[in-house]
Amino acid sequence: MSLHAPHSAAAERYRMLRHVVESLRKNTNLQVLAVTSPGAGDGKTTTSINLAGALAQSTAERVLLADVDLRRPSVARQLGLDGSRGSLVNALVKPGLALEDIVEQLPEFNLSVLQAGEATDTTYELLKSPRLDELVDEARRHYDYIVLDTPPFVPVPDGRLITKSADGVLVVVAANRTPRGALAEAVSLIDPAKIVGFVFNSDDSPTNASYYYGGGYGKSARPPLWRHLWRSS
Ligand SMILES: Nc1ncnc2c1ncn2[C@@H]1O[C@H](COP(=O)(O)OP(=O)(O)OP(=O)(O)O)[C@@H](O)[C@H]1O
Ligand SMILES: [Mg+2]
Repeated sequence: MSLHAPHSAAAERYRMLRHVVESLRKNTNLQVLAVTSPGAGDGKTTTSINLAGALAQSTAERVLLADVDLRRPSVARQLGLDGSRGSLVNALVKPGLALEDIVEQLPEFNLSVLQAGEATDTTYELLKSPRLDELVDEARRHYDYIVLDTPPFVPVPDGRLITKSADGVLVVVAANRTPRGALAEAVSLIDPAKIVGFVFNSDDSPTNASYYYGGGYGKSARPPLWRHLWRSS
């Protein structure tokens, strides 16, 4: 909706989220943001695409959306892209491959997309290699914002590796779906200093997503302290 219906109420919500991310960029240098959630199907990819789309509405900023869910990649499918440009998996296994050779620029939008590629059964080993950090560093040099769509945090270990390369983590919580225990477990596994906030995703509400700010992002490693809870409406 941020891409195809930028005037909708839902797109407005994602613009609020964009505003928060832009402020964090300015005040704390946040550049690489991982979008995760406790379980499958909570709305990580939907949030990643819409947040990246909202950030990309500013033509002055260079925005990269990277699908780092190598187990169940869906950014390319949700955006209707074919796999012709190459993928993150290609770049992880081929050290010489430059990001600019595999990133796809969406023609009508100011948005670059890195597809995940063929899912393999060695995703953890692929993500554990120092090559992931190298690619993220390369992305830092070419883009103002890098949004990483990640796998569910609790059931698979990939998210723990990916969030190490990120400056901040956004946790998606599906209304009426994400179990409280799974959310608590995910939060306990993420570096508290990296949690920038929570997105309450609901596909049955007319406004679809709300954002709550938790003051966990910053240099200190203290546990998240919900200094203020802010709702975007
Ligand atoms: N706010 C929303 N409004 C409408 N549909 C939504 C919304 N959020 C999610 N969905 C739908 O729910 C399904 C799961 O969403 P999505 O793919 O974003 O979740 P995910 O957390 O990325 O899943 P996975 O764990 O499999 O990667 C998709 O079909 C998506 O279109
Ligand atoms: Mg997904």
